[in-house]
Amino acid sequence: MIITGKYPQLRLRRNRKREWSRRLTSENSLSVNDLILPIFIVDGKNKKIPIKSMPGVFRYSLDKLNSIVQSAINSGIPMIALFPYTKSYLKNSLGTESLNPNNLVCRACKLIKKKFKNKIGIMCDVALDPYTSHGHDGIYQNNDVENDETIKILVEQSLIQASSGCDVLAPSDMMDGRIGKIRKALDFNGFKHVQILSYAVKFASGYYGPFRDAVGSKNLLKGNKKTYQMDFKNSDEALREVALDIKEGADMVIIKPGLPYLDIIQKVKSNFKIPVIAYQVSGEYSMITNSIQKKIYNKDVIMETLISFKRSGANAIITYFADKIAKEL
Ligand code: PBG
Repeated sequence: MIITGKYPQLRLRRNRKREWSRRLTSENSLSVNDLILPIFIVDGKNKKIPIKSMPGVFRYSLDKLNSIVQSAINSGIPMIALFPYTKSYLKNSLGTESLNPNNLVCRACKLIKKKFKNKIGIMCDVALDPYTSHGHDGIYQNNDVENDETIKILVEQSLIQASSGCDVLAPSDMMDGRIGKIRKALDFNGFKHVQILSYAVKFASGYYGPFRDAVGSKNLLKGNKKTYQMDFKNSDEALREVALDIKEGADMVIIKPGLPYLDIIQKVKSNFKIPVIAYQVSGEYSMITNSIQKKIYNKDVIMETLISFKRSGANAIITYFADKIAKEL
């Protein structure tokens, strides 16, 4: 970089002096088009259940969904992500409820599609953890998740969700080779337009705790997910994961969690020209929310974190602040 001139002729503060000038010279911005809103759903009627570890986030029964989705559409949010809280009697070691075409997520997809058509995108996770009695994302054998057996179920789960009206399938399981298998099955079964948003780079992170609480898998989880989710000491490996998923047919990729991994977002974005979605996960949400409640932070820090994702190169952000911040944009 060449800098011409020097102080006192050169003063970088000149551009910052007036609000209009700061607006004129700003390099990044956040719009509602950048936001994806996660919604937790639960069985029953007229339910809005607060999630203790995520102040301001709720589990909604399906009869409450219309107004939530309508207000997301009104604020211009392009996509929602549905996450089910599964009752414990429906969970088992194989996660078979994931293959029930009338499970909670599928019913939600049908309802939303029927009412709102294509006014908003619907994203659903592909993984078994909301449905398994051990809390893992796949078939758990000999203290590990079996890759190839898990993929067979994930492929079925993908087809069932696609036929319920899900627009964007988001495999969050981190099995090797699942993107290719899912893409192939989708195409073969008449779902060639259904998109795949791969959780390509998902780290084994301590920041997922509140989410596991929200979907009811926290107390069930046996051990940890380190044999399939990535080691957070690695970044070359993240590029390999993304390269493979692109080759297998991913339309977009997720980097997750968000804030501790801005370097990964930047690397992925500069190496691959594919839409990159940052996931500001539950633990990040809770930390910021708690600090605001304790008046350590103010609301501007939400914006500061969201802009940091844009600055690092993310095209969009999955964030539990989406509905709250969309109203201010
Ligand atoms: C499930 C899944 C997780 C999250 C999204 N999908 C948790 C996990 O892998 O244990 C985390 C989201 C968050 O913390 O906000 N595969």
